[in-house]
Amino acid sequence: MSRKTYDELRSARWFAPDDLRSFGHRSRMMQLGYSEEDFVGKPIIGILSTWSELNSCHGHFPERVENVRRGVLQAGGFAVEMPALSVDESLTKPTSMLYRNLLAMETEEMIRSHPLDGVVLMGGCDKTTPGLIMGAITAGVPMIYLPAGPMLRGNYAGRVLGSGSDAWKYWDERRAGNVTDAEWVGVQGGIARSHGTCMTMGTAATMMSIADALGFTLPGASSIPAVDSGHKRMSTDCGRRIVDMVWEGMTPDKVATTPAFHNAAKVAMATGCSTNAVVHLIAMARRAGVDLTLDHLDALGRTTPLIANVRPSGKGYLMEDFFYAGGLRALMKTMEEMLDTAVLTVNGKTLAENIEGAEVYNDDVIRPLSNPVYKEGSLALLRGNLCPDGAVIKPAACDPKFHVHEGPALVFDSYPEMKKAVDDENLDVTPDHVMVLRNAGPLGGPGFPEWGMLPIPKALIKQGHRDMLRISDARMSGTSYGACVLHVAPESFIGGPLALLKNGDIVRLDLPNRRLDMLVDEAELERRKAEWTPPEPRFQRGWGWMFSRHVTQADKGCDFDFLERDFGRTAGEPDI
Ligand code: FES
Ligand code: MG
Repeated sequence: MSRKTYDELRSARWFAPDDLRSFGHRSRMMQLGYSEEDFVGKPIIGILSTWSELNSCHGHFPERVENVRRGVLQAGGFAVEMPALSVDESLTKPTSMLYRNLLAMETEEMIRSHPLDGVVLMGGCDKTTPGLIMGAITAGVPMIYLPAGPMLRGNYAGRVLGSGSDAWKYWDERRAGNVTDAEWVGVQGGIARSHGTCMTMGTAATMMSIADALGFTLPGASSIPAVDSGHKRMSTDCGRRIVDMVWEGMTPDKVATTPAFHNAAKVAMATGCSTNAVVHLIAMARRAGVDLTLDHLDALGRTTPLIANVRPSGKGYLMEDFFYAGGLRALMKTMEEMLDTAVLTVNGKTLAENIEGAEVYNDDVIRPLSNPVYKEGSLALLRGNLCPDGAVIKPAACDPKFHVHEGPALVFDSYPEMKKAVDDENLDVTPDHVMVLRNAGPLGGPGFPEWGMLPIPKALIKQGHRDMLRISDARMSGTSYGACVLHVAPESFIGGPLALLKNGDIVRLDLPNRRLDMLVDEAELERRKAEWTPPEPRFQRGWGWMFSRHVTQADKGCDFDFLERDFGRTAGEPDI
């Protein structure tokens, strides 16, 4: 491999010339207390850290920045920490998804505008992984992704607790009168008890695994618990490696190829991934110029068994168990025959080399292909007159009796309206009803909130029901479960057919045939369409206004139109 010379590095443009502007740049670095020996003649590595005191999942990042810095310095580079938007999942309202693209824009422009030769991207909490990677793919400098890693298993009164999933479960039991106030507070204190991301196979673990399978992390890095000492060593390895990547000119386009995205999608399906994976995978692929659609994902899903027995799809294991069972390397080794292992990853090796020797230490946690948790992949993509541009469901996480289901619609136009109704013990609802929430998509939510696991009406909970068919144009948390159809596109807020559904209309889900329809005739739908008036826009100014003008629908990944790779490009023009 040919190595770059210092003059070929980006930072040399700032610091090498003997002119007035470079004098200014150098003098300002000296103002920071650095000598020329520190930063001239060597790769400058940006450590983009999505830390904030309000991001409970990234609490260990200040220490990890120092772990990375140690590696960068050892390898002969110069490291600078650059804070990037933290996009925490747990406290951001109305939803963190409103800000994924803001992080992507910030990442791209921070890299572009500064004397950086390579970057270590530090993320993990749901939207930070796709946000950082989308921006860095477009910026095009060598990059390595450092995943925050999952937190330890939750624990309360000797019981293991899983992020999200157990919150919903205990909440339903509390509503049914089976959990005391003291127990509820105990669960609250025990469900998140160390640094790190949600430790179920939620969106965070899913997206970190995807980054790993794409080849953007050091091999297996996504499975290391945040507080394991191996996580520190991995961070230092990232620092050492990124310096070499700069000299090698190993840019993200060499990793983010079509086979790498197909590998990542298959691995996601095999892990029982979050439904959010669909939106983020498509968005990242489009940044890389890779054609990845809902139909590709459905086809990959149909042929990929779910082998990670991790909640919410599996039967009780968590990410800590997954790590002890061998982690993502062992999972990829198990499904090696289904992957293109010739792809190159950030450590400069192929996937085949990276998974060589990986072993499964507990084959109940990482199942062999012959004994999967679920024989087909974890996601299915639907189409029909309710969702002409697609919708997503997680068959493995719902009661199989709903896989083919017909029932009357119970429709809500807003979350508060729905919340009021589900708490009404006299609500006129049967287990066959199909509960629908609309105006909850990218523009309607606004920001595409995780409202899709609509709460089961109290009236049904009291009768012992814990699942029912639910449909929305919202997303749902990766830690959620149940018969929930999500991401209905186009969304109702812009006049998608979901907007035309009325209470009592019969809705039919036919999962084996991937169909979702309302049994309402064409003429009646036309009549309703003519009567439909668009709702008032959610924002008149600011970020929300810009978001609403430019966000694409779920099937396109919800990137901004003007950030996509081909925006503004005339046919035949070269890449930027
Ligand atoms: Fe951060 Fe779940 S809240 S990963
Ligand atoms: Mg989540």
